[in-house]
Amino acid sequence: MRKVILDVDTGVDDALAILYGLESKQLEFLGITTVNGNVPLDMVNSNTLKVLQLAGRDDVKVYPGAESPLIREAEHEFMVHGTDGIGNALDDVTLEKELDNQFAPDFIIESARRHRGELTLIMVGPLTNLALALKKEPRLAGWLDEVIVMGGLVSLAGKGNSLPNSEFNIYADAEAARIVFHSGAEVTLVSLDVTHQTFLTIDHIETMKGTKYYNFVKQSTDVFRNFSMQRYNINGCALHDPLTVGFAIDKEFLETEKYFVDVETVSPLGYGQTICDFRNLWKKEPNVNICLNVDGEGFVKHFLETISVD
Ligand code: BDR
Ligand code: CA
Repeated sequence: MRKVILDVDTGVDDALAILYGLESKQLEFLGITTVNGNVPLDMVNSNTLKVLQLAGRDDVKVYPGAESPLIREAEHEFMVHGTDGIGNALDDVTLEKELDNQFAPDFIIESARRHRGELTLIMVGPLTNLALALKKEPRLAGWLDEVIVMGGLVSLAGKGNSLPNSEFNIYADAEAARIVFHSGAEVTLVSLDVTHQTFLTIDHIETMKGTKYYNFVKQSTDVFRNFSMQRYNINGCALHDPLTVGFAIDKEFLETEKYFVDVETVSPLGYGQTICDFRNLWKKEPNVNICLNVDGEGFVKHFLETISVD
């Protein structure tokens, strides 16, 4: 089984990604690391612990990470994920487990050192934890098998979700993303170009009726689906983070190609933009695998089957 650390800012689709990854039984979770993002870190931590409790997985440890971006001020996404980050779906849950004491970037470094060449990082929030880890231990890039990042957009000009050309995870800490992209690690960017082709609709959710996570999935996605209805006219939830986990489970879901990709950190109009040099105008070595195509139908089917457990 593939050894992974999942880095989250839980978040509705982060919660779905956690459940999907765990229920797939195809990934060995060394741990889950948390980061400020969709909601402040305290909420991310408790949401993550609650989701693990729902899954009955008290064997998976949660390592708290960065409370704020490297340089910029934090911005959150309450409009998309609800006032608590998971659509208030687990309000009644009393936590039975605590966080681990180790700081997430240190846990990432230690795990990569221990499992050299074998560890995959799945990053579905702002990249602050990994940037901090790389600053502390630059050899980390060479110790990792690969880094799969949910973030950015490369050919959907004007169709970002934080700024016209910027996606939330990169926009939330563009300086961190820049460090990760230039680290030398094998990075794959699962961008809005493909995640916006994978919506979990209300019809999909209704097929889960009677299964373990039906109530949670329906309630947690409620605010998100309303938001999507207003913005995209779809009563559904984009599976950004689950698709990123999906790529760790099965590479066939995505078609990738390597290009030079950089991150804008200066312009207020384009802060957090991921710029892919398709024509190699900058004459730089390719550094990021971008996603050109997705088997959206195949992926959503696999996601639904995997989380529809008794
Ligand atoms: C990304 O931003 C967050 O709102 C989601 O959890 C996802 O990781 C999509 O832009
Ligand atoms: Ca996320």
